[in-house]
Formats: sequence, C-alpha cells, structure tokens
Amino acid sequence: MSIKDKCPAVRVVMFPHDTNGTGTNIFGGVILSHMDLAGGIAAREVTDHRVVTVSFDKVVFKQPVHVNDVLTCWGEVTHIGNTSITVHIVVEVQRKREWIPVTEGEAVYVAVDDSGKPVPVTSPLTAASSTITATTTSPAACAACAHKHSATNQTGLMTRMKSTLAGWRRAWRW
Ligand SMILES: CC(C)(COP(=O)(O)OP(=O)(O)OC[C@H]1O[C@@H](n2cnc3c(N)ncnc32)[C@H](O)[C@@H]1OP(=O)(O)O)[C@@H](O)C(=O)NCCC(=O)NCCS
Repeated sequence: MSIKDKCPAVRVVMFPHDTNGTGTNIFGGVILSHMDLAGGIAAREVTDHRVVTVSFDKVVFKQPVHVNDVLTCWGEVTHIGNTSITVHIVVEVQRKREWIPVTEGEAVYVAVDDSGKPVPVTSPLTAASSTITATTTSPAACAACAHKHSATNQTGLMTRMKSTLAGWRRAWRW
C-alpha cells in the first residue's frame, strides 16, 4: 500500500502570509511545520504517550509551493525503536486538478512521560493519564474521507469538536 492510499494527516490551503521574504513562494519553515504535525499524528498512532520531535532528516524541497495550493501531508511510521518512532513524510500540493510532489522527509519522535523523559513506546500509561485514552477498538469508516480510523480516535475527535462548538456558543451567545 502506498503512503498516499492512507488518509492525509494534514490538508491546508496556503495563504499569502505563509510566503517567504520575496512574497512569491511559500516559506520552507511553514511546510516543515505542517510536516511536523503530520509526522506527530502518525507517531501517535503507535503509542499512547505524548511524543516530541527529536530530529528532522533528509528533507528535500523538490518544487516550490504557491499561494492557494492545497498542501497535503502523509505520514507513515517506518521504524519503532525503544522510545523513538521514525516517520516518513510525503508532501504534495493540489493545484487546480493537478497533484504535484513538493517535499519529502523523515522525522524522529520520542515517546515521553509527563516530565518529558523518554519512555518505551509500548509502555503502559500511568494511572493518572490513562483516563484520557482507551484501547483501540475495531476500525470504523470515516464519513469525511472513507478511510478507516479507529473508533477511539473518532470518539476523541467528536468530543473535542463538541467541546470547541460549546465554547464558541458560549463566547458568541449562540
Ligand atoms: C527528545 C528528548 C526527550 C530525548 O532525550 P534524550 O535524553 O536525548 O534521550 P535518549 O538519548 O535516551 O534518546 C531517546 C531516543 O531518541 C533517539 N534520538 C536521540 N537523539 C536523536 C537524534 N538526533 N536523531 C534521531 N534519534 C535520536 C535515540 O536513539 C533514542 O531512541 P531509542 O530509544 O528508540 O533507541 C530530548 O532530547 C528533548 O526533550 N528534546 C526536545 C524535544 C522538543 O521539545 N521537540 C519540539 C521541537 S523543539
């Protein structure tokens, strides 16, 4: 299965404020930031612990990204060490009906405990933090993109969306 058969972790439209000093192409740091998010999301699939980025490697910017391009990042775990998780990240842009490969790279994440110390990827959570996660259940189809995700993740997402909506309602008396 190709990495692009997976659901993209990040899909975002590039705005003028994302450009470099010349104001034409998108700043590489903006693309790296989205890659980091995509890699982190992939890493979180294999551990219940918080993950931090320890390195970014072999990043190649193959083609410029333009304002109004839809930047799309996929992440795939390629290696699980003791405390580290290596993720290959692929970035393409959708420009009108064309898909253009723009960037590729590899990032390493480390599973950490509440104090930021490395912990084995597969180690159980502490009692205090285990309440925020649950064991993975059977996959369910994602209505938005028809890819398979764990029901646990969708439940968590729905809870966060409901809570965000409730916050907006309170703020706007809606
Ligand atoms: C990530 C961090 C917790 C690692 O701490 P550490 O004391 O160096 O931990 P270790 O030496 O035990 O290494 C932990 C794992 O990271 C890997 N690692 C460490 N440095 C690495 C590097 N430069 N490149 C790739 N992997 C690296 C180790 O190989 C090890 O993997 P393994 O357990 O699977 O064998 C620490 O460096 C840190 O907090 N960094 C800041 C992270 C951060 O804030 N990132 C956000 C962006 S600034």
